[in-house]
Amino acid sequence: MALPFSGNFILAECIMNDALNQLSQRGDGFSFGGVTIAPQASLGDWQNALGQAFETAGIRTPQIDARRLILAALEPEGTNVESSREISDLEASRIAELAQRRIAREPVSRILGQRKFYGREFDVTPATLDPRRDTEALIRSVLAIVNAEEWRNKPLQILDLGVGSGAILVTLLAELPQAMGLGVDLSAEALETAQANACKLGVADRARLQEADWLEGVSGSFQIVTANPPYLSDEEIAQLAPEAGAYDPRLALDGGHDGMKAYQTIIPALKNVLAPGGWCVFEVGPGQAAAVEKMLVYHGFNTENRDLSVRKGVYNVERVVAGKRQTGSS
Ligand SMILES: C[S@@+](CC[C@H](N)C(=O)[O-])C[C@H]1O[C@@H](n2cnc3c(N)ncnc32)[C@H](O)[C@@H]1O
Repeated sequence: MALPFSGNFILAECIMNDALNQLSQRGDGFSFGGVTIAPQASLGDWQNALGQAFETAGIRTPQIDARRLILAALEPEGTNVESSREISDLEASRIAELAQRRIAREPVSRILGQRKFYGREFDVTPATLDPRRDTEALIRSVLAIVNAEEWRNKPLQILDLGVGSGAILVTLLAELPQAMGLGVDLSAEALETAQANACKLGVADRARLQEADWLEGVSGSFQIVTANPPYLSDEEIAQLAPEAGAYDPRLALDGGHDGMKAYQTIIPALKNVLAPGGWCVFEVGPGQAAAVEKMLVYHGFNTENRDLSVRKGVYNVERVVAGKRQTGSS
């Protein structure tokens, strides 16, 4: 869960309201920030107009977002559409509707209900976190552990705590065809999305899902336990960019006043489910790696293999901490 932060909420809201006012339909077309565009204008013209409106709204990737939304409105044509292609009246109103939502800072993945994660397209719903690129570091971490332990062809048992959309569990099951997995979440709606993704991505026969409060009522013996728990502090939640603050469920973000609540609950209970010699692999928030590692060591985990125990995410910040349960530990 890598979250974009913006300390400038009021400014963002003003820009958003301005941009919304600028995106208005006229009898002869649509107007974006002083640019009027005829409904039959080309795809390229629409992309430029949307790009400008998105930039004015403070969106970080205006052109990319404009193209994705326009292509979604033209479905099912695919991605190889010429810039010179004319846009019909009906398509123009569809594009305008999607654009209004983006200007209101709804993420593209939420508008389309889809997010690509580790090369696969996942459904996302209001009950799930929008999976983040940083979480792909956790996937790479687990795969490095599996290779180092020579577990690739073993019938591994994987437990994913806080499964959400299933981004972690479903990806691991797809990457490790011999593995079986259990995904746990407190949200029944999130579990439904995880189930849908497991079906869509062909791993449903190896995935079980359970509604539970972390490890309460969870039984079994797993070689790998993963978790990307909510880890934002109260202060970080107050500073979230509109895309995350308004659209990701609070349950997926809120890590208690200092962001550490989930780790404090999960780590002491791991011995009940993690096989001796097994690994736990956590995503952590920026600046939390040392504290989570300390907690793991205190509870009998070995973090001495630095190549496997700490991994950086996309912004070169430590985002994954892993520990091996000592063989023979109680
Ligand atoms: C940061 S999201 C991670 C979702 C997904 N694993 C991912 O990486 O995209 C945290 C998840 O933990 C779940 N969660 C929060 N509190 C929980 C609890 N007490 N027990 C189980 N799951 C919980 C949330 O519903 C959410 O799906």
